[in-house]
This record gives sequence, C-alpha cells and structure tokens, in this order.
Amino acid sequence: MNLFEALEQAYQTAQTALEDAKDAGTLETWYADTLGRKGVITLQVRSVGQLPAEDRPAFGKRVNEIKQALEAAYTAQAQVVKTAELARALEAGAIDVTLPGRPATPGHLHLTTQTLRQIYSIFGRMGFEVYEAPDVELESYNFDLLNIPEYHPARDMWDTFWVQQVRNSPARLLLRTHTSPGQVRAMRERANTGRSAPEPIRVILPGKCYRYEQITARSEHQFYQVEGLAVGKNITMTDLIGTLTQFTSMFYGSGHKMRVRSSYFPFTEPSIEADMSCILCGGKGCRVCKYTGWLEIAGAGMVHPVVLKNGGYDPDEWSGFAFGTGVERPAMLKYSVNDIRYFYGNDLRFLRQF
Ligand code: PHE
Repeated sequence: MNLFEALEQAYQTAQTALEDAKDAGTLETWYADTLGRKGVITLQVRSVGQLPAEDRPAFGKRVNEIKQALEAAYTAQAQVVKTAELARALEAGAIDVTLPGRPATPGHLHLTTQTLRQIYSIFGRMGFEVYEAPDVELESYNFDLLNIPEYHPARDMWDTFWVQQVRNSPARLLLRTHTSPGQVRAMRERANTGRSAPEPIRVILPGKCYRYEQITARSEHQFYQVEGLAVGKNITMTDLIGTLTQFTSMFYGSGHKMRVRSSYFPFTEPSIEADMSCILCGGKGCRVCKYTGWLEIAGAGMVHPVVLKNGGYDPDEWSGFAFGTGVERPAMLKYSVNDIRYFYGNDLRFLRQF
C-alpha cells in the first residue's frame, strides 16, 4: 500500500470512528487521536518526506483537504452530540426549563459621576458653565502662571507625576495636581476673543487631579476636584462666601453652619478656607470631623492680581474669586462612605448601592 492509499484509509477510519462517537468524552478522544498534535492525520504530514519530490505537493494538498473535511465533520457531530445530551438530560429531569433566566441588570452612573452632576446642576442654577481643562498639563499652567515659581515651597504641597517630555520641547508636562490651571486657560480664552474688551467669566472646572501620595482611606493619588472661577467688575469676597454658602445648603441641605478661616494659596489673595458644621455630629465633635465640629469644604480666595494678569485681565479693572472643592469627600459625607478607595476599586457590591 503506498502512502496515498494509507492516507485515504486513515481518513476512512477517522470518518467511521466519528460517526460512532455519541458522547462528549468519546468525541474529545477522537479529536485528540485524529486532529490533535499527535493525531493520525496530523502525523501524516510527516510522511511527506518519504515521497519523491514530484508527489509531495499533491500529498500535502490532500492532507489539508482531509483535515478541513474532518474539522467540519467534527463540528457538526459535536452539535449533534450536544443536542442529544441536552435531550437526555431534559428527559431525566435534570434541567428545569421553567426556571426563569437571569435578568440582565442595566448599569447606572458611578457615584462620582452622580455627585459631579449634582454639583453641575447647583452651579448651573447660579449661572456657572462647565469648562473642561486637560488632565495632562504644562508645568507652567499648573504652577508658574498660578504664581508658584520653581523655587516656591508651595510646590511641595502638590508633588505630582511627571510625564515624559515632548521631544525637542523645553516645556515640561505633568498630571495636574489641582484644577486651578484651568483658571488661566479659561481666562486666556475669554480675554482673547478678538473683541475690544475681555468678557466676564463664571465657570466651574471639574476634573481629575493627581498627586504623588500615599493611598489611605482618606486620600487617593487620583481624585476629582471642582474649581470655580468668577471674573468681573466689582466681584468681592462677599460674592465668594455667598456662592459657597448657597452651594453647601443646596448640596447637603439647609441648616448647616458655615465658617471662613484665613488661609494661604499663592494664586489667591486674600485666601480663605471654608468649613461647614459637621453633618454627622452637628458640630458636637466626632471621629469624622476629628472632634473639631467642622469639616473643610473648599480652599478659596480672591484671584491674585498676578494670576489675573497672566490670564489677560487687568487687575486694576477686573477682580475675581476662585475656589476648589473635592468630589469624593463630599460624596463620602453625604452617603456615609468610609473609605475613598471604594471609588476606584470597581467592586460592584459597593457601586450597586448608589
Ligand atoms: N487648588 C487648591 C488645592 O488644590 C484649591 C484652591 C482653588 C484654592 C482655588 C484657592 C482657589 O488645594
């Protein structure tokens, strides 16, 4: 018997064996013995070396045809076996066809997105538009233009992740440490409209910020902030405090006290920190407010003249206020979440609760 005949015989045998394979186990064994790595048909390819050169292409072609035919026959037989096994199981009562299927659960917005949208809607009602600025920021916008030169100790407060420099460019890139760089971007856009005078501004700047920090229950190395910026004629600290008070009562409900402390930021002058009475203990003092009775809600202040100038606004003519507030922490307070890491953990048991 020559090799061609042996091949055809192996094909015949495999076909008959396949027809006899009536359960999943036999089928699998058949596959391994026939088309598997060491299967009869697979091994046929090796015998090609024993043939005279002129017969080799024809032999190779035939082996491939047989392989393809057997693969197709296997798939068909597997379907037949599967159907038969299902029918047997049904008859034996092993499958309860009256059992309802698992319902597909529709997804919903992440708690952070829900909180952001509440914030947008509150500020929207006060006339603020949403302005988006980039996460990957130029060093100059994150620091220098905000009155934080390279040597300034305030840079230590915002240690960050640096991004590889653009080739041939002296500009250094980083992941923004706060949403404040958007202030200058918004101002430069509105100051340069090509009209004779810059426009007044009322925007909020939401977005992710990054800090090179230890991750704990209270701080992540990525988190959201919402910045607020208003620039106009005769804007005063009273407008700032009024805006923050209004926001607090709309977000947490009325009846909370607010207080303002003096603070320091290089890009605001004067700078303040706004606190509200602890929503958990009502001001008596508890673990959440570290027994002070107060919770910090925003860093804020009047836009520094240098920053106004950097944005293209003449500080003798214009004034403005700015504030920056978190998103996860307010959400934690409002919904009693005790660990910020849940926001980024992707654990459905957490996410489904909101
Ligand atoms: N950017 C400051 C921070 O991240 C917050 C801030 C914003 C302070 C705007 C003043 C004005 O801490």
